[in-house]
Amino acid sequence: MKKLFIYYSLTGNGELIANTLRDYYVDVRRIEAKKSLPKFFPLRIFVGGYKAMKNQKDELLPYDKDISQYDEIIIGSPIWNGRLACPINTLLSELDLTNKNITFIFYSGSGDSHEAQQTVKKMFEDVSIINMREPMKNKKELEKLSRYE
Ligand SMILES: Cc1cc2nc3c(=O)[nH]c(=O)nc-3n(C[C@H](O)[C@H](O)[C@H](O)COP(=O)(O)O)c2cc1C
Repeated sequence: MKKLFIYYSLTGNGELIANTLRDYYVDVRRIEAKKSLPKFFPLRIFVGGYKAMKNQKDELLPYDKDISQYDEIIIGSPIWNGRLACPINTLLSELDLTNKNITFIFYSGSGDSHEAQQTVKKMFEDVSIINMREPMKNKKELEKLSRYE
């Protein structure tokens, strides 16, 4: 089974997950938003949180959309205001995920991704979800990836 981890990361947690999965021979692809969130932390949380609440889609830099060679697509999203990060909203509207095994990896400060889970469960009949609390601070969380070892 060929697996691809396709993810967004603003502050490095998704990146750490990608590096771990790469060690397990999972292919990885990072997506980037054309416009990043503000650097000033309170403004960043306000702007990103508002956009996520509105389910906005961030415009992405060009990326490879061909996923035809993969059986499992693992989508990595930070949690913004309890929800999917805006670049992931775009990704989900652009990729053809028909007939793929889908797993989401959510990474957040609290480990709580209730609303994001509801969203993806509505979109995909059969979806696997892994929740992680900021693996940069909590390295043990990476053990949740052991199924890919
Ligand atoms: C705009 C914004 C909103 C966030 N909202 C939440 C939240 O609602 N709940 C939570 O637990 N963490 C929240 N966080 C923290 C991130 O989900 C967490 O730091 C995550 O691991 C970041 O992943 P990254 O480093 O790959 O970008 C938020 C972060 C940002 C930037």
